[in-house]
Amino acid sequence: MFRASVLTLYPEMFPGPLGVSLAGRAMGQAWTLDTHLLRDFAEGRHRAVDDTPAGGGPGMVMKPDVLARAIDHVAPEGDPRPRLYMSPRGRPLTQERVRELAAGPGVVILCGRFEGVDERVIEARALEEVSIGDYVLSGGELAAMVLVDAVVRLLPGVMGHDDSGTEESFEAGLLEYPHYTRPQVFEGRTIPEILVSGDHARVAKWRRSEAERLTRERRPDLWAKYQPRKG
Ligand code: ADE
Repeated sequence: MFRASVLTLYPEMFPGPLGVSLAGRAMGQAWTLDTHLLRDFAEGRHRAVDDTPAGGGPGMVMKPDVLARAIDHVAPEGDPRPRLYMSPRGRPLTQERVRELAAGPGVVILCGRFEGVDERVIEARALEEVSIGDYVLSGGELAAMVLVDAVVRLLPGVMGHDDSGTEESFEAGLLEYPHYTRPQVFEGRTIPEILVSGDHARVAKWRRSEAERLTRERRPDLWAKYQPRKG
């Protein structure tokens, strides 16, 4: 069973959206979630998890000793799961990495708050920094939920229809083609003729060409990568 362990100052944010719909229904079946309050690993009368930055400057930095104790408690040496640290400075999350994670035993996720965490704990515990996009959230919790959601839906048995996970956006390196359903006419707009023709080969060709058009128009970065492998 895939195990997600989350280290956070706000365990009450979980499971949140992970507790409903697809992920929620599969919880306890295909995957488990455990959350750990970082403050429980702090010492001293004030149980401080952060301190002022060396060298000065604004904000606070999460203490390496507290984080290391939490990580060692949740994932002792020998735990095979990758240790992720959600951070806007990380390598951008991709569907490829999501697929790799879904094929593994689980994840340990450190959610940062404040300005960030002491660099030494990133090195000492081999944390993989992961970003979910070029914008700054107030903490890693929402980013962790995004990552877990993307992974869990790929676990065996979670999605109803077995290839709906691999046929869609990004899996082929293209954005998804447009979808339609009844009614045949909506506010004067009709469903493209080809889709109601019953000609499956023409439908497939149309969808491919629409996916290519949308990718070219909206995501030149994906389009450039897709071009060379086009047969
Ligand atoms: N924490 C704050 N912003 C983030 C982002 N964009 N990705 C991952 N973790 C974050």
